[in-house]
Amino acid sequence: MIKKGIILAGGHGTRMSPLTKAVNKQLLPIYDKPLIYYPISVLMLAGIKNILLIVNKGQLNQFRKILDNGKRFGVNISYIEQPKPRGLPDAFILGKKFIDKDKVALILGDNFFYGQSLTNKLKNCTRLNSGCKVLLHSVSNPELYGVAFMSKKNKIISIKEKPRKSKSNLAITGLYFFDNKVVEYSKSLKPSKRNELEIVDLLNRYRKKNKLTAEFLGRGGAWLDTGSIDDFYNTSSFVSALENRQGLKIACLEEIALKNKWLEKKDMKKAISFYGNCIYSDYLKKLI
Ligand code: G1P
Repeated sequence: MIKKGIILAGGHGTRMSPLTKAVNKQLLPIYDKPLIYYPISVLMLAGIKNILLIVNKGQLNQFRKILDNGKRFGVNISYIEQPKPRGLPDAFILGKKFIDKDKVALILGDNFFYGQSLTNKLKNCTRLNSGCKVLLHSVSNPELYGVAFMSKKNKIISIKEKPRKSKSNLAITGLYFFDNKVVEYSKSLKPSKRNELEIVDLLNRYRKKNKLTAEFLGRGGAWLDTGSIDDFYNTSSFVSALENRQGLKIACLEEIALKNKWLEKKDMKKAISFYGNCIYSDYLKKLI
């Protein structure tokens, strides 16, 4: 079982300036909670309790203020500051000590997932024995993402980062599951032309050894982008529509912890006093 997860929440969010001048993008709102709640919720739904959050240098206190050590929602969060963004595989070099001898999941801090069978799929992925598993989803604009090309038997034949024209519409989402070789492989990667370690190079290491497999989110699932200001509004509308219609919150961390039996009802009181008088607290009060 994979029991550790890294969230990469670095980057400068330049496409969203001036919103991101003083605040990290992952702390901006998706409807009623900060964006970072959503990737944390994905790891929690996967049953992952040990989380390493990689943040930009100088921004650690912003994250600590809202997440602290994670105890409020039943997990353990530790932090590492990234001196400067060096590409996604840098997460495994910076996180070497955290990973130790274990397998690990990686989720990008700006990825949003939703779907009926999401929890089951995530749990399946955490059962990875060896190799790497990626989560694929169909998109109308594959040229913006890493893309996977599949054989008829659903085997990954090749992968490409942001191809200009793509015959495949299967994007590689920002959620990956790795065996322990990921540290060694990441260390041996050479920086690309844009001077970054590329996730596609790392995934190709696994593919060449026949060790790259895929899980599909499926058409009943949603994987939404939060790269631009319009994406923030669209994703917020999605969350607002569902939450208000159903009366159930998406990515309420304390609720997931309660369901996972990582918290007890009495622990909710601490969370309620942390949030103060607000709609989120009203929802927590209803849970108990
Ligand atoms: C990164 C990865 C890309 C992946 C995407 C998912 O792209 O390089 O392969 O499909 O995340 O969000 P970026 O968002 O850094 O452009």
